[in-house]
Amino acid sequence: MEKPKVIIPRDDIAEKVAELAALIRKDYKGKNPLVIGILKGSFVFMSDLVRAMNIPVEIDFVRLASYGAGTESSGKIKLVKDVETPIKDRHVLVVEDIVDRGLTVRFLLDYLSFRKPASLKLCALFDKPSKRKVEVPIDYLGFTVPDAFVVGYGLDFGEKFRYLPDLCVLEDKD
Ligand code: IMP
Ligand code: MG
Repeated sequence: MEKPKVIIPRDDIAEKVAELAALIRKDYKGKNPLVIGILKGSFVFMSDLVRAMNIPVEIDFVRLASYGAGTESSGKIKLVKDVETPIKDRHVLVVEDIVDRGLTVRFLLDYLSFRKPASLKLCALFDKPSKRKVEVPIDYLGFTVPDAFVVGYGLDFGEKFRYLPDLCVLEDKD
């Protein structure tokens, strides 16, 4: 049985989200951006982020899955749920919880750029660069985290722990 141990408390996350939102607000004011969240992990971050941005935005979601289960997977990405909003000529901001190997986000950015948005940027709350396989430019980044499996604030381990308000690592409990 694993026990979650807090590594980034909720107040630090809230402060960072406000900083990111201020940067994004400045860059996107008057542009009516389309904010696209990657389900499921980004749902908590995205809901805090768009409210902190405090400018008119539209939102949509995609769901991607990598073949295989568990903390390590095959690296093949598939689109399980597509965007429902036309993105041609829109200013698109992709919101992701964590960039690990980079495969998920690389796949999505390539997929979306094919449809000719006016601009395409990435906002990720967490970056775990130690296992990066493909290069991804993170335009707005919250925190760099160490090479450990993190949960909470939307992130799960086997669908557990998404509801935790702080970012945690899983420790063995005895
Ligand atoms: P990537 O394709 O390896 O960059 O994987 C990114 C996806 O894997 C994220 O969207 C998360 O859903 C998941 N992921 C990667 N690392 C973690 C972690 O430490 N905790 C929870 N989910 C993770
Ligand atoms: Mg995810």
